[in-house]
Amino acid sequence: MNPDAASPTGSLATRLVKADAASIAEAGTVLRAGGLVAFPTETVYGLGADATSGAAVAKIYAAKERPQFNPLIAHVADLETAQRQGVFGRDALTLADAFWPGPLTLVVPVAGTCEVSDLARAGLESVALRVPAHPVAQALLHAVGRPVAAPSANRSGRVSPTHAAHVMGDLEGRIDMIIDGGAPDVGVESTIVACLDNSGVTLLRPGGISRERIESVLGHKVASPASAGPVTAPGMLASHYAPNAQLRLDAEHVEPGEAVLDFGGRFADVQAASFDLSPTGDLAEAATNLFAFLRALDATGAEIIAVAPIPHEGLGEAIRDRLARAAAPR
Ligand code: TXA
Ligand code: MG
Repeated sequence: MNPDAASPTGSLATRLVKADAASIAEAGTVLRAGGLVAFPTETVYGLGADATSGAAVAKIYAAKERPQFNPLIAHVADLETAQRQGVFGRDALTLADAFWPGPLTLVVPVAGTCEVSDLARAGLESVALRVPAHPVAQALLHAVGRPVAAPSANRSGRVSPTHAAHVMGDLEGRIDMIIDGGAPDVGVESTIVACLDNSGVTLLRPGGISRERIESVLGHKVASPASAGPVTAPGMLASHYAPNAQLRLDAEHVEPGEAVLDFGGRFADVQAASFDLSPTGDLAEAATNLFAFLRALDATGAEIIAVAPIPHEGLGEAIRDRLARAAAPR
């Protein structure tokens, strides 16, 4: 492992390894030594660094070319470890019990015993915590024995990776290792919920667990950032998930020359470069295909991608959120 990991010139020999006991143990050693390892979670691939080391976390920003020090999610193996990092009130505990391990991130007040570095938290008095369910992520967290900071393993402004090959394409030469664990089963990032004493429960980012499921477990509605005042997730830049092509959302028809991101077979009869997120209209299937299909349509060189209407409910909220970001002017 090279101590100059993540130099933007890309001088590291990035190793792509299949997930097995030996590669996971080795990845744990690389992380403990301050290196960068991309690993699969059930949402998207994460770019991990030792969250307790500011120097290790700084390499994430360099490798991704993140413009600012946005706060990162600290991944931990279990609720007990999470409770050493953050303070869990009643609602946070209810959500952790219901959805961990899984695609949920909780933003809670930082605990006195918190090991997550200031840089990973971007100096905030809160910490974002997630217990992932993916067996490779779980095994890796046990091997490291420390919280692992991990944003999505793509270069800043690019589409989140759902295959090890996507990670390689974006970060080869900039990170030490990529653990290939196949395709994730959720496909969009975790839902982020803030449980902070002063502002109640706020849905900061729609994601792999729908708003409806969260509200049903809590027994009450949760606020959205728009209705909750100033933006509390500083990393949520409008044009975050950016393909090269322009996206035309909620398309009712397809113009000549446009590529198509379809849903439910709406444009099945149209002659065009086309991928259907879910021919049967299944939102979970659509979420798993979203980022890979955006990359594939981009690779066709199309200038405009017409996107079929996606329902608003359930996982549709997260899919629509990512599409709106991908369509945002930049
Ligand atoms: O599914 C996921 O969540 C993936 C996998 C790898 O776990 N990770 C991910 O991380 O999407 P990232 O860095 O792309 O998004 C993290 C989001 C950012 O929008 C950031 O601003 C927000 O979490 N965040 C982190 N700490 C926060 C805090 N203390 N308060 C508010 N927002 C925070
Ligand atoms: Mg990201």
